[in-house]
Formats: sequence, C-alpha cells, structure tokens
Amino acid sequence: MTPDEMKRAAAEAAIEYVEPGMIVGIGTGSTANHFIDLLAGIKSRIDGTVASSEASAERLRGHGIPVLDLNEVGELPLYVDGADESNKYLHLIKGGGGALTREKIVAGASEKFVCIADESKLVDVLGAFPLPIEVIPMARSLVARKMVAMGGKPVLREGFVTDNGNIILDVHNLEIMEPVKMETEINQIPGVVTVGIFAIRPADVLILGCRDGVKTLT
Ligand code: 5RP
Repeated sequence: MTPDEMKRAAAEAAIEYVEPGMIVGIGTGSTANHFIDLLAGIKSRIDGTVASSEASAERLRGHGIPVLDLNEVGELPLYVDGADESNKYLHLIKGGGGALTREKIVAGASEKFVCIADESKLVDVLGAFPLPIEVIPMARSLVARKMVAMGGKPVLREGFVTDNGNIILDVHNLEIMEPVKMETEINQIPGVVTVGIFAIRPADVLILGCRDGVKTLT
C-alpha cells in the first residue's frame, strides 16, 4: 500500500461517521481531498458542508456539494480533517497546507473531530514536522524572535499567503513535550493568529491507514 492508498483507506473509514442530514466540517489537504471525493458519492444524504479553506470549498463545489457559512449553521456534529503529526493522545500538528486557522475554527465548532491520516503521521513526540504558525505580517520578526527564545528555528514560508491574508512561519527544531502548554504560550505572543498545535482541542478519533489495514485510536 502506498501512503496515498493509506490516506484513501482512512478517508473511507471516516465516511462511516457521516449520518443523514448532517452538516459536515471539512478539512484541507490530500487526505481531506480523498474524503471530499468519497463524500460526493453520498452527497444527497447530507445537508451540506463547512469548508476550512478556499481550496476545499472549491473541490466540494466542483462535486456539487453545498458549502455553507459557519455563521449560518452554528455547531457542527462532525469535522473530518488530516494532520501532519499526531501523538497517542490525539494532540496534533496541523497547518502543512497553511489552512490551520480556519481548521482550528471549524474543529472548535464541532462536536466530534475525526482525524484521518496514513500511519507515518503517528509519532511519540510532536515537533519533527516544522510547526506552522500563522502570523500577522507586521509581527513576523517579533514572533520569530520569541520562537528562537523558545528553542525553535523559524523559517518564513516563502511566497505563501493564507486565506486570511497572513504569513506562515514554520518552526523547526522543537520537541513538543507539553503540547497544551506550548499551544497556550505561543497563542499569547502578539501577532500570532493561530499556532498549528491542536492540543487544547485535540481530535476525538484518529483513523490511521496502515499497511495491514485501518486502525482507530480514541
Ligand atoms: C492543512 C493541514 C493538513 O491536514 C495537513 O497538512 C495534512 O495534509 P495531508 O493530508 O496532505 O498529508 O493541516 O493545513
């Protein structure tokens, strides 16, 4: 099985969580794209979706799946999204695709967060994947200096602007031993819009596509 086939298998398993009449929160990235494509097959059974990025909204609309404004729908029963890393507590690093802020908003508005990934995403300690932080452009140097003080090596994601008009700093060299604490600390830095640690609101379910089948962690 290739990593992409493992992502597809995880997305197939996540379809089981979709119930008739639901409005489903939709993540961003290649694994979420598999989920979107599979959702197209049962689109008549759902009432619509809320997308975590312009890219996902476009893909959903391309399949004829309604995309709704979160402000119009309130609490969502289900959010399905990928991740760059997860530990066994389902604390995540997200934002490899740069959509972390809207992803955190949709996750925060959802009753159940089902994370889908291939087996390579499960790690003992978060941080080998460079931690994405969405930053207001004028705070770039300030946030970078604070991250250096925390032991990280921030790198500007060149030529990338988020859906919200901001920049991304990818912070290398972090060993995130206390994800909730680090998420809270980085959130306090002026100019930080969102840090890509999802630990205060972790996933509820992690579906991993593995070489020997699909595994589910809760
Ligand atoms: C986008 C994300 C994605 O969920 C993450 O980057 C994983 O992507 P992929 O499914 O392509 O491996 O957080 O901002």
